[in-house]
This record gives sequence, structure tokens and C-alpha cells, in this order.
Amino acid sequence: MSFNQKYWVVGLVYFALNFSVNAQGDAEIGKLKTMACMGCHGPTGNSFLPMFPSLAGQPAGYIAKQIQDFKEADRRNATMTSIALGINEADTQHIGAFYESQIKTPIVKNITHLKTDAEKTALLTLGKKLYDNGNADTGQAACFVCHGKNGDALVELNVPNLANQPPQYLISTLNEFKNRKRTNDGERVMRRIIDTMSSEQIEAVAYYSSYLVPTLEEKK
Ligand code: HEC
Ligand code: HEC
Repeated sequence: MSFNQKYWVVGLVYFALNFSVNAQGDAEIGKLKTMACMGCHGPTGNSFLPMFPSLAGQPAGYIAKQIQDFKEADRRNATMTSIALGINEADTQHIGAFYESQIKTPIVKNITHLKTDAEKTALLTLGKKLYDNGNADTGQAACFVCHGKNGDALVELNVPNLANQPPQYLISTLNEFKNRKRTNDGERVMRRIIDTMSSEQIEAVAYYSSYLVPTLEEKK
């Protein structure tokens, strides 16, 4: 290959990459591509079981990134990796657009493993403190900075919404950041934070953020 040919190939690849990043997915096409997802994530992206994350209302770019990361095993989950390997780049964008357009159904607030109301209140109070203020003793950053004061996440930066996500799933994925099964957070943004947190703190912040009601959605 001559220097000129190489130049053009590089140029075309660059163009293709940029194009795919900017391409807007089509929610209608995306819906048709989610038949194989419904069994776990629900027909509208509101999942049936607490171990399956809900996808309704998540930023399209976040969904597309996760599918890509499962393919590349930056995020390791046998089921999702084999599913993701069957989704092409265009469909990834369409699927993202479909789920972003879906409305979240409010989560049932039920802390079943704690007996008394006092224990439940204490858990949510600790969660709120860590979410809103961080922890000066350990250097833990406050979650609201990126995930939003009322759960209004910085969606344009592809930060996922935590509101309405089952707490069990949040605890599981936070533990995976901690034990490095999940390493797809650019600049180690989540790993740095979670390394400073105890299991009790992770549980508290998971329940608190799951129960948040985004103000932007209330206004819709
Ligand atoms: C057999 C059940 C199952 C099916 C079918 C399934 N998923 Fe998943 N999905 C999961 C589980 C479990 C996770 C959480 C994996 C983890 O903890 O890393 C997940 C995670 C995801 C995530 C990341 C969500 C987040 O909040 O980070 C996306 C995106 C996703 N799935 C998309 C899809 C799409 C698109 C399809 C269909 C083409 C699909 N899934 C089919 C079980 C399933
Ligand atoms: C500086 C910004 C920032 C801060 C602060 C932050 N996060 Fe995150 N968080 C992110 C980004 C970005 C991602 C998406 C990573 C990826 O692409 O997979 C993420 C992902 C997550 C996820 C995975 C969501 C899913 O659907 O799988 C959870 C849970 C989470 N963060 C909880 C928290 C909690 C709890 C705190 C506070 C203790 C916190 N985050 C603080 C930026 C941040």
C-alpha cells in the first residue's frame, strides 16, 4: 500500500467512526430489535426481576456504550456478552434510542431485609448523606455531582440514571466496580469512589439513589 492509499484508508476509517458516533438511532427500528431483550429487561425496558437492570429512560449513548463494553469484555457478564456480540453497530444505536424514549415505572419501595422502620430510616439517612455530601473522612466524592441532586443525571455525558434502578442491581454492579469485574468506567471514575466505601455504605447509597425521583421527569 502506498503512502497515499494508507492516508485514504485512515481517513475513511476516521470518517466512519465519527459518523457512527454522531448517528442518531431510530427508536422505531430499535423497538423491533429488542424482542430478544424483553424476557429480562421487560417490553418497555422496565425489568421484571431485581437482578436485571431497567433500561427505560437511560441515555442512548450510555446503553450503546454498555453493549460495546460487554462485547469487549471491559464489563464481564457471560449472558450479556454473548447477546451483545450478536448486535451490530447500527442496531446498537437504534436500541439505545428506543430505551431512552421509554418511561420508567416507579420502583416499589420495599426494604424487605430490614425489620423495623427505624432501621430503614437509618439506612436511607446514611445513603442521603453519602450521596449529597460525600465523605470527608475517606475522600469519597458526592454522587450528586454526576448522578444529579434528585437523580437528574448528566445524561449528555452518558452518566446513567440511578433513580428507579432496582437496589439489588445497583449493589451488585457497585461491588463489581470494587472487585474489578467491571472496569468500563473511563478514568476509573467509579472505581476510585467505590474503593473508599464499605459494604454498609454501598447498600445505603444504593437504596437511597434507587428511590430518588428526578425533578426533570416530574415536570414532563
Ligand atoms: C437472560 C437475561 C437477559 C437478556 C435476554 C438480556 N439481558 Fe441485558 N442484562 C442482563 C443482566 C443480568 C445484566 C446485568 C449485567 C451485569 O451486572 O453486568 C444486563 C445488562 C444490560 C445492560 C447494561 C445496563 C446498565 O444499567 O448498565 C444493557 C445496556 C443491556 N443489558 C442490554 C440488553 C439488550 C439490548 C438485550 C437484547 C438484545 C439484552 N440486554 C438481553 C440480562 C439480560
Ligand atoms: C465524577 C462523576 C461521578 C461520580 C461523582 C459518581 N459517579 Fe457513578 N458513574 C459515573 C459514570 C460516568 C458512570 C458510567 C460508567 C460506564 O460507562 O459504565 C457511572 C456508573 C455508576 C453506576 C452503574 C449504573 C448502571 O446502570 O450500571 C452506579 C450504580 C453508580 N455510578 C453509582 C454511583 C454512586 C453511588 C456514587 C457516589 C457514591 C457515584 N456513582 C458517583 C460517574 C460518576
